Amino acid sequence: MRTMRSDYMHWAKFKPPVRYQLTGSEVPHFRMDSLPITIADLDLDGASHPRYRPLREAIARRYGVELEEVVSADGTSMANFLAMAALIAPGDEVLIEHPAYELLLGAASFLGAEIKRFERNPADGFRLDPAMVEAAMSDRTRLIVITNLHNPSSALASEADLRAVGQLAAKAGARVLVDEVYLDSTVPRRPSAVHLGPEFVCTNSLTKVYGLSGLRCGWILAEPELAERMWRLNDLFGVNQAHPAERLACIAFEHIDKVIGDNPAVLARNREQWNAFVDSREDLDCMPAEHGITAFPRWSGGDTERLDALLRARYDTAVVPGRWFEMPERFRVGFGMAAAEFDEALNRLGSALDVLK
Ligand SMILES: Cc1ncc(COP(=O)(O)O)c(C=O)c1O
Repeated sequence: MRTMRSDYMHWAKFKPPVRYQLTGSEVPHFRMDSLPITIADLDLDGASHPRYRPLREAIARRYGVELEEVVSADGTSMANFLAMAALIAPGDEVLIEHPAYELLLGAASFLGAEIKRFERNPADGFRLDPAMVEAAMSDRTRLIVITNLHNPSSALASEADLRAVGQLAAKAGARVLVDEVYLDSTVPRRPSAVHLGPEFVCTNSLTKVYGLSGLRCGWILAEPELAERMWRLNDLFGVNQAHPAERLACIAFEHIDKVIGDNPAVLARNREQWNAFVDSREDLDCMPAEHGITAFPRWSGGDTERLDALLRARYDTAVVPGRWFEMPERFRVGFGMAAAEFDEALNRLGSALDVLK
């Protein structure tokens, strides 16, 4: 049956709010009114600007690619969908990592793909293992889909492993879609996989790492011919993006260091606190958090719906139960909050875990 909705996204949007949201996977929202913006910057004359060049230039500059390799889209969400729609014909075999961000599975299913999976093994730090990809491939594989950093574990794929997967894809006449929405949170920032060869198609946005989810500024990086195919296909979906948002995104790129601010330091500090917290607990098993905005620990108490329910009921706190990432005995926590708030969230998580011991 073709997927016609995302239960995860619906849950993520409408779950009851709590004070301590360890469910999040982005840095705190950035206030755009802290940048020098006037109403005239928004081009409020009603015109739209096909393939708005200044925004494509800003993206191309920051990611070191040619203008013709950039396709803009509404968030990484639409970037993923548009990329897949250009790459998948009904019946095509598509390999998707496990565990996976549910919407990648949903989009491929909606487009009529025959989905096969390959494991990112928790015992191997959720590594992107080319041998696992190769074992799952067939001569009908048209697309391999991964996240880097991996959502939910934040595992960083090595360049060697990415290259090896690219070679497998090239041999089979397939492509590799790399969702890089968390990649820019690495310090130092790692280059996009698009630089590794024409088989790589990469997506990203100003949401998770930049705190600008409201702009819905996303993009695809792909070789020019494929990028052109995506632009043309997008005429079926949305034609152009909202122009004031494109203008604001350009201004954000001009001030990107200010937008980033002290987020890398806060994330690094919270990851350290998290690692100490995990070390102090026998009921949690989690690889040390080195990168990214999320971690995906295993709890010895079984299905983590129970943990989330108690956190919500008694502690005004929440985590993402692992069932949303196909591993119910794990849960996802996010590091994107101020230090004091994160520490209190961990206190509360610790209390709930103690109650359930
Ligand atoms: C792997 C991954 N891709 C894409 C998205 C959505 O990104 P955006 O807000 O840019 O649409 C998310 C959000 O959780 C995500 O985790």
